[in-house]
Amino acid sequence: MPARKPTVVITYPFHPEVIQRELKPKARVILAPTRAKLLKALAQADGLITLLFDRVDEDLLAHAPKLRVVGNVAVGVNNIDLAACRQRKLTVVNTPKVLTRATAELTLTLLLAVAKRVPEGEALCRSGRFKGWAPDMLLGHELKGCHAVIVGAGRIGRETARLFRALGLTVEFISRDDAESSIQRKLRRAQVLSLHLPLNRQTHHWLSRARLRLLPRDAIVLNTARGPVIDEKALIQALQDRRIFGAGLDVYEREPEIPRALRRLSNVVLLPHLGSATEETRAAMASLAVQGVLGVLNGKRPWNTVRLK
Ligand code: GLV
Repeated sequence: MPARKPTVVITYPFHPEVIQRELKPKARVILAPTRAKLLKALAQADGLITLLFDRVDEDLLAHAPKLRVVGNVAVGVNNIDLAACRQRKLTVVNTPKVLTRATAELTLTLLLAVAKRVPEGEALCRSGRFKGWAPDMLLGHELKGCHAVIVGAGRIGRETARLFRALGLTVEFISRDDAESSIQRKLRRAQVLSLHLPLNRQTHHWLSRARLRLLPRDAIVLNTARGPVIDEKALIQALQDRRIFGAGLDVYEREPEIPRALRRLSNVVLLPHLGSATEETRAAMASLAVQGVLGVLNGKRPWNTVRLK
């Protein structure tokens, strides 16, 4: 008798070609796009593939008696209760490496957009109010020689540093081992502050009101990691008071909600979580998540297995 195909539940058709080519030949696939459907489908699931906004918590896992693996189509795993997975002896796989370049490029895009005031200039052109060149119109900043501080020395932080250096910025890192006094010293000289931290209990509001106060007046804050690593209210206040030059944000504290106060500010560039949004990267992420899940279901330990603390 042929071996039974495992059942893999997906919460979204995250990449139809990859699903068709790589997942369907090896697994019975159930699409469960709502929480209610998901809880029902999990009764049969050997594997589950989730997106970064799917909450994988105790309640969900209690509905999944056969589940062996969760594959997150994201590098961040803050949506998954890792302790609960460990307790149930589940494996979690994610999508590191393949999105490093895309995310670093988007961080650079935000930096240039803020420093050169690109959205304001674009809006002016579209509005029909551009009446000609003026010596004092929409002045931004040159980046060559600026000092950038990158928070988080992981793959994305290091790739972002390479791109910044190519533009002529000097770069230093704040890493997990930095003492508070060293963090504060670095923040005081951060003309560009770029956050590349995973979201967890230790990094929640890493950029607090107190730390924001240390930044110089020409500082640009960039966040392509997770919204809650910044105290968003405090950032809005700093931008409103012009205590920093600007910010470029791809993520938000209560995503997808973007506070009206933030949307009103002209010194912030806002993107809808596009860090890994390239055709190439999204295909690679889909494939990596699928291969990881299938690997675990075949008794292997894929390289993209998340360490469950
Ligand atoms: C995107 O935000 C990811 O974590 O992959």
